[in-house]
Amino acid sequence: MLQIKRAGHSTLTTPDIERMIDYFTRIVGLNLAAREKNRAILATKSGVEAIVLERGSAVEAPRLSFQVAPGSDLGEVASRLKKAGLKSERRSDITPGIGEAIAFKDPKGTTLEIFSDFEFAPEDNTFTGVMPLKLGHIAYQCPDVQGIVKFYCDVLGFRVSDWRSDFFAFLRCTRDHHTVNFLRDPKTSIHHIAFEVRDWSEIKRGCDLLARSNIKLTWGPIRHIIGHNVAIYHKNPDGVTIEFFCDMDQMFDEELGFFEPRPWHQDRPQRPKVWGDETPSNWWGPMSRGSSHSEPAAAKTIGKPSREAASAARTPALAHARIRQAQKKSRRAAKPRR
Ligand SMILES: [Fe+2]
Repeated sequence: MLQIKRAGHSTLTTPDIERMIDYFTRIVGLNLAAREKNRAILATKSGVEAIVLERGSAVEAPRLSFQVAPGSDLGEVASRLKKAGLKSERRSDITPGIGEAIAFKDPKGTTLEIFSDFEFAPEDNTFTGVMPLKLGHIAYQCPDVQGIVKFYCDVLGFRVSDWRSDFFAFLRCTRDHHTVNFLRDPKTSIHHIAFEVRDWSEIKRGCDLLARSNIKLTWGPIRHIIGHNVAIYHKNPDGVTIEFFCDMDQMFDEELGFFEPRPWHQDRPQRPKVWGDETPSNWWGPMSRGSSHSEPAAAKTIGKPSREAASAARTPALAHARIRQAQKKSRRAAKPRR
């Protein structure tokens, strides 16, 4: 098993690379660290590579990089993958910051680039856009969520932070509640990309900046229940949902096994678990706890993703069926759901 330490960068293909460079620098507030004919590398203001744009006919997220411990032998990484039955290859010049990586495909077809050492991009002291601290998490849709979760845990060393019923999984590789999430859907695709900002005031500044740029929020500001991050969502010019968030649950100590206690948690302490299908999507506002169509979260200790969690939330049947109907309607109106 590998032990992933953090997410590196997400590679996105776009038919209009100039438009996307403009969006990621002027709106998101990343720094254009390098530009090639058909490629652009964007880093945070502090010099951490976050997004690679490539010219392509379709809007996709074909690759994602992960860092293992600095100094790790990439040959050893390749042989561990081989033992797990995975074919990989060594690649060079991944980005200006990543010289070498081992590349292989995960079960849903995303190429993962595993690197051990990297160089920061030069710091950018200009003040533009939202200016996130880092690429926080990447959410994908795919048909076999149980299979991909098993792969990320068994092969890459991720831990399950939470499930919503049996269709939405949140996995961590750092103290952050989630770095990847997987939502069940017949089609495999990117669901959203999330950037972490410093605090609530930066979310507020982001709302103002998006409004000034004529970009509408598609959801938020909200505080999620699963992960408890405060978040806003909008769509980028390619139609990919982008989230800015802060205040995500933190698992400071894996042996303690609970998230750092916060006043807005539903449990004391808050541990990884399976949340019922009817868990409100967020802590404030529509679809939140206390709203006319909310109900308490049905919780199961983490382990096997269960159908029982959903069925536990199904009584009394008629009342809950009505709630489900209302929530489905709201979810359709306010994607991405959670
Ligand atoms: Fe998210």
